[in-house]
Amino acid sequence: MIVLGIESSCDETAAALVRSDGTVLSDVVSSQVRLHAPYGGVVPEIASRAHLDSIVPVVQQALAPLPGGLAAVDGVAVTHGPGLSGALLVGIQFAKALAFDAGKPLVGVNHLDGHLLAVFLRRGDGPHPPPPPYPFVALLASGGHTALYRVDEPTQTALLGQTRDDAAGEAFDKCAKLLGLGYPGGPLVDKLAATGDPSAVELPMPMAQRSSLEFSFSGLKTAIARRVERDGVPTGQELSDLCASFQHVIVETLVRKSLAACAAEGVEHLVLGGGVAANRGLRARAVEQGAARGVHVHVPPLASCTDNAAMIAYAGAARLSRGERDGFDLQSFTRDKARARGRFRPDGTLNKPA
Ligand code: KG4
Ligand code: ZN
Repeated sequence: MIVLGIESSCDETAAALVRSDGTVLSDVVSSQVRLHAPYGGVVPEIASRAHLDSIVPVVQQALAPLPGGLAAVDGVAVTHGPGLSGALLVGIQFAKALAFDAGKPLVGVNHLDGHLLAVFLRRGDGPHPPPPPYPFVALLASGGHTALYRVDEPTQTALLGQTRDDAAGEAFDKCAKLLGLGYPGGPLVDKLAATGDPSAVELPMPMAQRSSLEFSFSGLKTAIARRVERDGVPTGQELSDLCASFQHVIVETLVRKSLAACAAEGVEHLVLGGGVAANRGLRARAVEQGAARGVHVHVPPLASCTDNAAMIAYAGAARLSRGERDGFDLQSFTRDKARARGRFRPDGTLNKPA
């Protein structure tokens, strides 16, 4: 089965062709970073307009390698949430029109499911690392979400814990903004952190108690803001040291809680996903600490961590293979409230998947 995936939930217009075994036939991503950078964050209306400009060429480019083009695909998968409503609308309406016109089945994909399953994508010529067996624990750390999931099957996931406030990527972006580094902040902090001393600056370790699988990153942003107010924006080695210390606190928190989740679930495989999983410090520390605790850590290639449509096509193929499909009345949703509800009890204990 070959599925065309379309993604437009935030600031990347993307389309991809993927086989149901994860083989990526094409993967096109048109980034809007340049358009949003002057504002220090994503401007929703600019995002919607840029998606409108890019969607046709991006989908055409994704279909180009397939002899027969759209007629040869077995279905169309599109991100229908969570994300920016205007941005989602562009991808959804386009996917609906395409599927209707070509007489192909349509499935809506939750963007977060795409990130959770991106580890199964097989890019380029092998050899490919063996995919994780089910069940596994997944850390999803992106600009909009930071959460731990137990994944029992491609279509069966349970939320184990999530951030109470800012997402990890949001913390990177806000910290970078406070330090005058630019947008998006994650890769810039990552680069400076590589030459800094992670123990140079003491910062609060959010939700440090290991038993809780919840995160909180807004205090870190405040700590950096207070520091900058008091001492000004550091430069040179001091700037690198602050970035390294900030990144260290986020990485330690993510790794500790991910391994705590594996222990609580009795699961030996941890998967990283989302844009923050591109962070070099996180990738290295997770593998190192996982090995020390008997947990195999699966780290997808960078192109599979940040937003892309190949992960949407793969998650869509999993739904289509089960005979699932959506109608042309498919709607977008902006927040993933349904998933959070009922998965995590108010007393902090976990609801096991049914
Ligand atoms: O998954 P993603 O591409 O989009 C969302 O669904 O949000 O994640 C984007 C986030 C941004 O906050 C960006 O700063 C962060 O991922 N990010 C990184 C790195 N690369 C991207 N954070 C830390 N280190 C990186 N190398
Ligand atoms: Zn994402």
